[in-house]
Amino acid sequence: MQVSVVILAAGQGRRMNSDLPKVLQPMAGKPLLAHVIRAARELKPAHIYVVYGHGGALVQAALPDADLHWVLQAEQLGTGHAVMQAMPLIADHEIVLVLYGDVPLVRAPCLERLLAAAAGGALALLTVELDDPTGYGRIVRESAKPRRSGNVIAIVEHKDATDQQRLIREANSGLLAAPAGALRDWLLGLARNNAQAEYYLTDVVAGAVRAGNPVIAVAADSPVDVIGVNDKLQLAHVEAAFRARKARELMLAGATLADPSRIDIRGDVSVERDVFIDVNAVLSGCVHLGARVSVGPGCVIQDARIGADTQIKAHSVIEDSVVGGDCRIGPFARLRPGTVLADRVHIGNYVEIKNSTVGSGSKVNHLSYIGDATLGSGVNVGAGTITCNYDGANKWPTLIDDGAFIGSGTMLVAPVRIGAGATIGAGSTITDGAAPDKLTLARARQATLDHWQRPGKASEAQAAAIIEAAGLPVTAAPAGASRRPL
Ligand code: UD1
Ligand code: CA
Repeated sequence: MQVSVVILAAGQGRRMNSDLPKVLQPMAGKPLLAHVIRAARELKPAHIYVVYGHGGALVQAALPDADLHWVLQAEQLGTGHAVMQAMPLIADHEIVLVLYGDVPLVRAPCLERLLAAAAGGALALLTVELDDPTGYGRIVRESAKPRRSGNVIAIVEHKDATDQQRLIREANSGLLAAPAGALRDWLLGLARNNAQAEYYLTDVVAGAVRAGNPVIAVAADSPVDVIGVNDKLQLAHVEAAFRARKARELMLAGATLADPSRIDIRGDVSVERDVFIDVNAVLSGCVHLGARVSVGPGCVIQDARIGADTQIKAHSVIEDSVVGGDCRIGPFARLRPGTVLADRVHIGNYVEIKNSTVGSGSKVNHLSYIGDATLGSGVNVGAGTITCNYDGANKWPTLIDDGAFIGSGTMLVAPVRIGAGATIGAGSTITDGAAPDKLTLARARQATLDHWQRPGKASEAQAAAIIEAAGLPVTAAPAGASRRPL
């Protein structure tokens, strides 16, 4: 069975009231269309055709993947018309699977059931029972036999339905599969004599019935799988459904979630056993949490691998980083892109690390900036240390070798190297590097002035004279300070 997937993505999505084409509206951090393409790929089809039109260049630019074939629908004359645009590219012996760019939560298993039914020569429709099917096309069956039995004879759009038909709760997901040759014939029979003056794809049911092909309604696994997104309310609905689905997957994989309704998962998150995730964590992109990792409340983690037993404490932000095992991060730590931490590293509060490697057992515990640096193992960086990596035009590297001890409040003016086992005295500004195993100090000596006195309150005239003597305009005196009348 050779399968061609046709994804309909040409509509404008007027109900979104947005400048962004509907299929590019973001859900779980990716365009709606990207989710559909992902489901399509799981089926390993021969070809994926994306029918685009509204916002064409934008849509193509957002999905530059080489395996997609783009088919232009210059005028959006309806879902049936959209499928017609792709048909010349598809051979009669193939099975066509039609997906909608605005039905993002669909999953491979129910699509496989559709394909199996179509392979037997049927028109296979994915349908779902909804409590409130408002807006969806309704599945009309031959007789009022028990629910979901009786042959399907038509799909009636909500806008075209009679009051009686609107009571039908079996809704059309829009997704269908059929043998290409037969579908081609049925599409030829479409007309625009309906409420929206469009070529409705749903009218191929009538064609199949006329031709004597079976029409099979395949039930979706859950209503969530086939939610169509037409407005921002439904967008929020699929976002929440995606979140709930992912939370469930994580729990089944062995994670404990402090509150499954208060976790935001916007990408591919995988966990090993006994991970704990506290409330309001936001995990996006590709995130892997090793066994027994704990993620504190309010953490934001994007595109990162976290090693086993590492604790990430409250309100830490990690992006594009690799963290080893048994590390302690945060609270309030920020790991920016390019951070690589070995095992047993401690990164404490108000510490920012960027594009740097930190060796095993090293500690940067308080209020520091480490950028473009390579730290060996067993390094201790004191509070308030800064790698001065930027001279206003260039970024320069800093090297801190194994076992070095950097005193608090040190400025490391890059490029600079601190030797293994070196000790830097607190408050130093290091510009020339530091020898291994020695104490290096670079700061003014402490002095005590015996005859110094605290200043008294100056008169306005004295204050003006002092300000003028310093080369400042008298008007620069701060409000409330002594000031000469103008
Ligand atoms: C469609 C179905 C309806 C079903 C619902 C489920 C038809 C006539 N109706 O209605 O039975 O219950 O989906 O979500 O098929 N598109 C194009 N070109 C066009 C028109 C649409 O590519 O000319 C694309 C849109 O971008 C969208 C998809 O087709 O991704 C569906 O179009 P939309 O206008 O949203 O159809 P619905 O009114 O939701
Ligand atoms: Ca829709």
